[in-house]
Amino acid sequence: MTTQEEQTRSELRFPTGFAWGAATSAYQIEGAVTADGRGTSIWDTFTKTPGRVVGGEHADVAIDHYNRYRDDVRIMADLGLSAYRFSVSWPRVQPTGSGAVNHKGLDFYKRLLDELLSHGIDPWLTLYHWDLPQALEDRGGWPVRDTALRFADYAAVVHEALRDRVHTWSTVNEPWCAAFLGYASGEHAPGRREPENAIRAAHHLNLAHGLSVQSMGARRVGGCVNLYAITPATASEADLDAARRIDGLQNRFFLDALLTGRYPQDVLDDLGMDLSFIEDGDLKTINAPIDLLLVNYYSRFTVSGAPGGRASAAAAPTDTASPWVGSEHVSFVNGGRPVTAMGWEIDEDGLVEVLTRVARDYPRTPLVVSENGAAFDDVLENGRVRDDDRRAYVEAHLRACREAIDAGVPLEGYFAWSLMDNFEWAWGYGKRFGIVRVDYETLERLPKDSATWYAEIIRQNRNHE
Ligand code: NOJ
Repeated sequence: MTTQEEQTRSELRFPTGFAWGAATSAYQIEGAVTADGRGTSIWDTFTKTPGRVVGGEHADVAIDHYNRYRDDVRIMADLGLSAYRFSVSWPRVQPTGSGAVNHKGLDFYKRLLDELLSHGIDPWLTLYHWDLPQALEDRGGWPVRDTALRFADYAAVVHEALRDRVHTWSTVNEPWCAAFLGYASGEHAPGRREPENAIRAAHHLNLAHGLSVQSMGARRVGGCVNLYAITPATASEADLDAARRIDGLQNRFFLDALLTGRYPQDVLDDLGMDLSFIEDGDLKTINAPIDLLLVNYYSRFTVSGAPGGRASAAAAPTDTASPWVGSEHVSFVNGGRPVTAMGWEIDEDGLVEVLTRVARDYPRTPLVVSENGAAFDDVLENGRVRDDDRRAYVEAHLRACREAIDAGVPLEGYFAWSLMDNFEWAWGYGKRFGIVRVDYETLERLPKDSATWYAEIIRQNRNHE
């Protein structure tokens, strides 16, 4: 080891008990979409609709985690992960989203959890990572209040069945994406372009969060938001206003609701729509006490109020509308930073900014970086993926976490996105986020250099515990 490598590693020392994890989600990895009574989700429908996903790809098999979960847990154990964040597929547990419970579906998660626990890996369970049962979408989906009520029932079922095996729960993954990519831009399932319904969906996803915290009565439960660092392109009034709007819809709409029980008034004013679907008491429910906040962080947006930029932060894979309801005039400009294969600008300082801001503006809530990572065009050469770009990304962001902790942020863990290459939604399999490579022909798994590096950092930290 060179002196520089030694120094790198000693700087990446984290507090005792820090969770060292990696994350996945059900639809992106499980496959087995008709096994053991699983129902249909909006993503099954969406991926079968021509023109929605690059190359017409779907996740019927995905990376076959449903059948290979034992091998996958072995990989996690070999990497020394102390925690694994995954999601439960609602249509596996309740095929039509309400009523009868499919015990075979729950049994899969019991097997997975037993495997994790027997390897000393702490399971972090997410209840909703975007795979709404199609039957509920047919009844209106997230724009309809009843979906939130059904979610609370589903959460109680899962909690009752798995609570002896799961210590940390999270409710809805990235409600911004589920609402605005699903119902405004149409880039994600169910692919609707109905701006006002996207706002209704956002509210009902927040309500689903609060109702499920209540219905589970779980301890150690958190909400999960995707936050961005946001910079105005210039100090002009128009650009400052653009930054306020995007920060409002992307960050504060969810943070304020979950952590203060209010929607930001400026955002509501900008929307200028009938908000009577927000009923008395909803915000109190949404503001249910939580034990931690899960933060997914990838990038920074540079925004402008002047016409002429891009309508979204990065190119969408298919024909889409703007997800920015009420702020369609705002444009996204190049901030001049290097980008990942998604076209997302790499900015680890943005993570320090986001974490310190949340800790300052919403004090007393422990935080976790529940997703962070990058897609790059990996090259497999002589049985090895030398993904120095991904290693550098993870390293820089871990350094940012360390800096945030030094600044007083109560940060309790870091989860790399993703454990393995998988189905990247509307982009299909072309964008590889894994620290473990998956060969899509043979489904073989191969840890990339980034995984070996991450494992070493974990080992050094856990050795000191
Ligand atoms: C956030 C989402 O939660 C995850 O499903 C997705 O694959 C990553 N971002 C990368 O886009």
